[in-house]
Amino acid sequence: MNRFPRTAPDLLLAIESSCDETAAAVVDRRLAILSNVVSSQTELHRRYGGVVPEIASRAHVRRIIPAIDEALRTAGVHLNELTAVAVTSRPGLVGSLLVGLTAAKTLALALGIPLVDVSHVEAHLYACRMSAGQEVFPAVGLVVSGGHTLLYDCVSAVDFELLGSTIDDAAGEAFDKGAKLLGLGYPGGPAIQQAAQSGDARAVCFPRPLIDSRRLDFSFSGLKTALLYAVSGSSQGRVVELPDLPPSRVCDLAASYQEAIVDVLVAKCRQALACTQRTTLCVGGGVAANGRLRQRLSQMCGETLTELVLAPPELCTDNAAMAALAWELLDRGVVAPLDLDVTPGLLRRR
Ligand code: KG4
Ligand code: ZN
Repeated sequence: MNRFPRTAPDLLLAIESSCDETAAAVVDRRLAILSNVVSSQTELHRRYGGVVPEIASRAHVRRIIPAIDEALRTAGVHLNELTAVAVTSRPGLVGSLLVGLTAAKTLALALGIPLVDVSHVEAHLYACRMSAGQEVFPAVGLVVSGGHTLLYDCVSAVDFELLGSTIDDAAGEAFDKGAKLLGLGYPGGPAIQQAAQSGDARAVCFPRPLIDSRRLDFSFSGLKTALLYAVSGSSQGRVVELPDLPPSRVCDLAASYQEAIVDVLVAKCRQALACTQRTTLCVGGGVAANGRLRQRLSQMCGETLTELVLAPPELCTDNAAMAALAWELLDRGVVAPLDLDVTPGLLRRR
């Protein structure tokens, strides 16, 4: 007889605070999500039209313990039943990341359990693995969020090779800045998607930057300038004031702008699949919640006989459950030291 029977499943507490969502989740080793709490700060940042780092970190400080409490309560799990604590330490806003990391370190130290350091962008792709309910790697991975547009060759869940990235704005940033120009509010992605539903995507022919380039990089800042000129009716010079446009024109511009972003993202995925000969495509990050992008990706993957793996929209936008990537790291014996620091950029400091 086993003298130490394991009655309880292994349980992970995951914490995410890289930008403007304070999130905590409990996920078991079979990747069942027992709770997934996301406290969004959208209302605090809306009037500024974007995330204000100082406001974000202060809100994380107020919300992190209630979020962790709620995640444990909803899952019906007590602190002393936890196997490990996972936390996003990179990339993101320094002040925001520090709040989650400090909470995670404190719990790991007090409970005597391992701390696991997770990359936010890698976790976005792991949301695809979690939703699939089975292994999805090797695959091409596209991360499209407010801060990043990255194409990877994902050899495994923890071994990614960068194929390309944006040379200026991220895809989500293009949605957010475009929505601001169109007077559609914040956050821009869902607002543009909604307006686009009543618009004609062929109304305005926006540029498709780098679409014919052999590089797997992206560029969205020129597209935003093209939208500025389309809104102002001017084709050059400094635009001082934006006119009030009729709602039908706003919807046409939103649909045409969204289509240009989607065209580029789909074309680069197709190109990356051809280069790598991979037969699976995983797409994660907030922009992966976009209905038109999902539709066009599924069409392209049908044509190229590629397995498309998309997480449901609530696992595309920022959440802590996706940090269950920590189980893969723990299985490989990777545990973080308690003097771990945050890293705002993609590359970890040595
Ligand atoms: O991954 P995420 O929640 O946070 C970051 O890591 O940045 O992504 C946020 C981004 C924002 O730019 C937001 O406008 C965009 O995702 N987004 C969308 C949609 N939902 C969120 N973009 C297009 N369509 C959507 N439905
Ligand atoms: Zn994100």
